[in-house]
Amino acid sequence: MKVGILTGGGDCPGLNPAIRGVVYRGLDFGFEFTGIIEGWRGLVKGIYEPLTLKDVEEIHYQGGTMLGSSRTNPFKKPEDLEAVLNNIKTAGFDAIVACGGEDTLGVAAKLYSLHGVPTVGVPKTMDNDLNLTDFTFGFDTAAAVGMEALDRLRDTARSHRRVIVLEVMGRHAGWVALYVGVGGGADWITLPEEKLDIDAMCEHLQSVRARGKKYALIVASEGTEIPMEGGEATVDAFGHVNLGNRNVGEFLASEIEKRTGWETRSAVVGHVHRGGSPTLFDRVLGQRVGIKAAEMVRDRDFGKMAALQGVEVVAVDIVKATSTLKTVPESMIEMAKALRK
Ligand code: F6P
Repeated sequence: MKVGILTGGGDCPGLNPAIRGVVYRGLDFGFEFTGIIEGWRGLVKGIYEPLTLKDVEEIHYQGGTMLGSSRTNPFKKPEDLEAVLNNIKTAGFDAIVACGGEDTLGVAAKLYSLHGVPTVGVPKTMDNDLNLTDFTFGFDTAAAVGMEALDRLRDTARSHRRVIVLEVMGRHAGWVALYVGVGGGADWITLPEEKLDIDAMCEHLQSVRARGKKYALIVASEGTEIPMEGGEATVDAFGHVNLGNRNVGEFLASEIEKRTGWETRSAVVGHVHRGGSPTLFDRVLGQRVGIKAAEMVRDRDFGKMAALQGVEVVAVDIVKATSTLKTVPESMIEMAKALRK
């Protein structure tokens, strides 16, 4: 079989291990691999590179994606969709393995259900917001980077007797903020899943100060709902608002200083989350879901996504996986609150 692999959407550590997993397992079945360059854009434009064992052997510890990525949505323009369908035929692909989040996999789902394209999905996202999979690779590394940033901020906050707010990515799910805050011992965490209560947060900071602690740390998810003044929000090809422009951390820092009189600074992790070598967890998970994807192609189990459920990697319906977001449940929020004193 001739198999095309692509990586779409925001990159994250674990994509290269996933590509490696697909190719290594696929070679057992005699597959021939082609790298489709820069996500769905590569299929619109017909840009490919051959993918051999030699190409993927050393990539398991490398961040980013060797295939490049983009947020191209081929369903936006009829001519792009036509180009994708034609290019799949011309290149002779028997299957497409798409590594991505809700947008990239949403395209794979539609190509399969509406046009019969044999697609298999590999879930990736630092946001960890894909349904039907317990974790996505990229999340562990991104959260570890955020936690390290918080550890560093603790030193300077303690020295200067300040409050520091750390803004982290995660889009409309608070997984990254929750894990960074719990792992890094934050005094307060703000999440998109919870209504922001600045009064309660400031009261808590005052009580932290009153019990003798000389500094405090806040972790704020970029998706935290804050009052916004005017201005046009920028959106990507899938209609997602650019949340980084809302400056949640800066807003919270200025409110805290105004209301408590405690000197406050803010810092943003931003795209630093997405770079660097994948953690052990992401290297292993990436290769595991990649291996499963190759097995799904062998079994012609198309329109499905390889998902981690408990300790097993299983095939799940790609439409169900991408139709709603996996947000932080109440029980996890309660767990984080138990650590707030
Ligand atoms: O979905 C991954 C993510 O890093 C989000 O956490 C963030 O909101 C977004 O991508 C940033 O997108 P871009 O790389 O296009 O600025």
